[in-house]
Amino acid sequence: MKITITPRGFFKNGKEYIKILQDKGYEVDYNDSGKSYTREQFFEHCQGAAGVVCASEKVDKEFFDTHPELKTIIKFGVGIDNIDVSYANSKNIFVGRCAGSNSRSVAEHAAALMFAASKNLYDGIYETKNSNWKKFSGFELLGKTVGIIGFGAIGKHLANICNGLGMKILCYDAFPIDQILAEEYGAVISDLETIYSESDFISVHVPLNEETKGMISLQEMKKMKDSCILINTARGGIINEDDLYTALSEKYIKAAYFDVFSSEPPDWENKLFKLDNFYLTPHMAASTTEADVNCCRMATEILLDRLGDE
Ligand SMILES: NC(=O)c1ccc[n+]([C@@H]2O[C@H](COP(=O)([O-])OP(=O)(O)OC[C@H]3O[C@@H](n4cnc5c(N)ncnc54)[C@H](O)[C@@H]3O)[C@@H](O)[C@H]2O)c1
Repeated sequence: MKITITPRGFFKNGKEYIKILQDKGYEVDYNDSGKSYTREQFFEHCQGAAGVVCASEKVDKEFFDTHPELKTIIKFGVGIDNIDVSYANSKNIFVGRCAGSNSRSVAEHAAALMFAASKNLYDGIYETKNSNWKKFSGFELLGKTVGIIGFGAIGKHLANICNGLGMKILCYDAFPIDQILAEEYGAVISDLETIYSESDFISVHVPLNEETKGMISLQEMKKMKDSCILINTARGGIINEDDLYTALSEKYIKAAYFDVFSSEPPDWENKLFKLDNFYLTPHMAASTTEADVNCCRMATEILLDRLGDE
C-alpha cells in the first residue's frame, strides 16, 4: 500500500517515522526536495496512495475525485480549512489532524509578538542595523490585559505563558469554559464585548470556518482601546483585512501583528504592508523542530491506526 507524505518538515525531522512505515511494509513517497509541491506535483505524488499526509495544499473535490484509492488524509498540523472535509466524509475518506502538536509553538509565537510590540523589537533592531542610534520607549507586559479568543489548545498555552508574566487574562470560547480550568490558567472567563473594551492585547485562536470568517471587523475594532494591539496567529480572514487597514490608519487601534493572511503567500501590494503599525511574519508560528516531531509521530500513529499493518 502506498503512503504519500508531502510536508518538507516530515522528511527533515521524521526520518525514523518514515522507517517505521517502511518497516510495516508501506511504500512511502516522501518529499525530500526541500520545496513545497506545486499543485501538479501534489496530485502526481499522491497517485495510487491509500494514505496521505498533507501540508497546506488545497485538498478539494478535484483532488478526491482523481485519487480514488485514498482512504485517509492527515493534516501535518491542526487547521484543516484547506481540506474539503464534508466532501471527504461523503466519500468515506477519513480526515485526521495532529491536534495539540504545535500548540506550544504557536502560543510562544503569539507571546513573542507581544514582546516584539511591547519592546519595539522590530523597529529597534531595524534602526540599529541601519546605523541609527535611536532609542524606543516601550512598556512592560506585567499587569497588562490580554484577551484570548478561542480557549483551545493554543489559547490555553498562551494563557499559561501570560499568567507567568503577571498579565491579566480574559478568555472567551464558543463552548462553555470550565471555571476551575480557567482558574488553573489564571484566566477570567469573559465575553467578547469585555475583551474588546478592556484588552491591551487581543490574540485570536479560533479555527477559520463560516462562523469565524470576518468575526473581527471594523465594528469590533472600534470597540477596542486605541492602545490595543491585535495579534492573529490563527488564520487569515478571521480578521477582516480591509477593515484592519482602516482601523490601523485611522488609529482606532495601535498596531497589529499577523502571522497569517487571507491569501498566502500574500499579495505583496497589499496596502496593509505599507503601514508602519502593521507587522508580519510568514506563517511560521508552528515551524519548530518540536512541533514537526510531534506531527510526524501523531500522523504516523493515525495512519497505522486507520490503515493497519501492511
Ligand atoms: N499560525 C500557525 O502556524 C498555526 C498553527 C496551528 C494552528 N493554527 C490555527 O490556530 C487555530 C486554533 O488551534 P488550536 O490548536 O488551539 O485548536 P483547538 O481546536 O484546540 O481550539 C480552537 C478553539 O476555538 C474555539 N472556537 C471555535 N469557534 C469559535 C468561535 N466562533 N468563537 C470562539 N471560540 C471558537 C473552539 O471551541 C476551540 O476551543 C487552528 O484552527 C489553526 O487555524 C495556526
